[in-house]
Amino acid sequence: MTDKVIVFGSEGFIGSHLVEQLVKKNYKVKAFILYNFTNSKGWISNIDKNILKQVEIVFGDIRDYQSVNSAIKNCDYIINLAALIGIPYSYRASESYLDTNVKGTLNILNSSMSKSIRKIIIASTSEVYGSGQYFPIDENHPLNAQSPYAASKIAADQLALSFYKSFQLPVSIVRPFNTYGPRQSNRAVIPTIISQHISSSKILNIGSLDTIRDFTYVTDTAEGFICAIKSKKSIGEVVNLGTGYALSIRDIIKIVSEATEKKLIVKVDKNRKRPAKSEVNKLLSSNKKAEKILKWKPKFNNKNGFVKGINYTIKWFSNKENQKLYDSKKYTV
Ligand SMILES: NC(=O)c1ccc[n+]([C@@H]2O[C@H](COP(=O)([O-])OP(=O)(O)OC[C@H]3O[C@@H](n4cnc5c(N)ncnc54)[C@H](O)[C@@H]3O)[C@@H](O)[C@H]2O)c1
Repeated sequence: MTDKVIVFGSEGFIGSHLVEQLVKKNYKVKAFILYNFTNSKGWISNIDKNILKQVEIVFGDIRDYQSVNSAIKNCDYIINLAALIGIPYSYRASESYLDTNVKGTLNILNSSMSKSIRKIIIASTSEVYGSGQYFPIDENHPLNAQSPYAASKIAADQLALSFYKSFQLPVSIVRPFNTYGPRQSNRAVIPTIISQHISSSKILNIGSLDTIRDFTYVTDTAEGFICAIKSKKSIGEVVNLGTGYALSIRDIIKIVSEATEKKLIVKVDKNRKRPAKSEVNKLLSSNKKAEKILKWKPKFNNKNGFVKGINYTIKWFSNKENQKLYDSKKYTV
């Protein structure tokens, strides 16, 4: 019988790509979408229509035990991507981050206790490490929350691991480093650079130019979650998903400029900078454990892979139909 996977946060950036890839790999997919009054299905509405036909959709709220408990019935695997992810917004709405990221994860764990779930895969984030203390960052690197968002993700990871240790609940933590690609919110740095670049030669809305990140193309990140389903060794483990290649924001602007053959005038927007102690200066992933335990290797790796991924992303953001799907080019938080 075909395995059934429920994806929480399915209508988001990574979730929508993951749903597409799961269906292509013949999994039965239930897409859990945050209930909303417009009946919006988020990015799930934009996936290939033939794929969409095969997806079971359920509306609910991860903060609500009852909706989680009924949604996961008869599922073999759970992947939890549902979260509030913006770091600036976490400075001013920390309680909602706790409710969604921590209580939401707890609801999944508690409701899984009475079911025969084969694996519960929790999406963590490289932000839990804080500014790297050594490189590449492996899974033994200390955890250091520099934002309420990171603190909420550490709490969720630890809760999940505690359920594995206390109750043998089959939990895996997958820890993506920064992800980029089509459908990402304009709050994130790469869409910010690309979409402003398309409309003018100026980039007006950039925070720090010197922060360094390890960027994974979204289809590689989605594939990492599928590898976590398949792995026989991922239960009770934390595994990083990163390329092992890092770039500064300044480097990325240069690559976008070269790809589009457009000259750029960069203006730093101080309002986009994080408070000094909250800034995570550098993240660069070790992916040795991912290769060993998940058999995962990013297809878009090194500089060539990044340039290829950036070109796909530019192409997607340059499409006028796709631009219409964004309400606003500028986010204040
Ligand atoms: N994008 C990245 O670079 C990145 C890097 C590392 C980790 N992650 C993690 O990956 C996951 C997905 O990130 P993303 O970039 O796709 O973010 P996203 O904001 O596009 O998706 C998050 C999804 O969670 C849903 N959600 C929020 N509150 C909910 C609730 N109460 N109930 C049900 N659903 C709810 C949203 O509707 C959305 O679909 C998150 O857990 C994030 O922490 C993302």
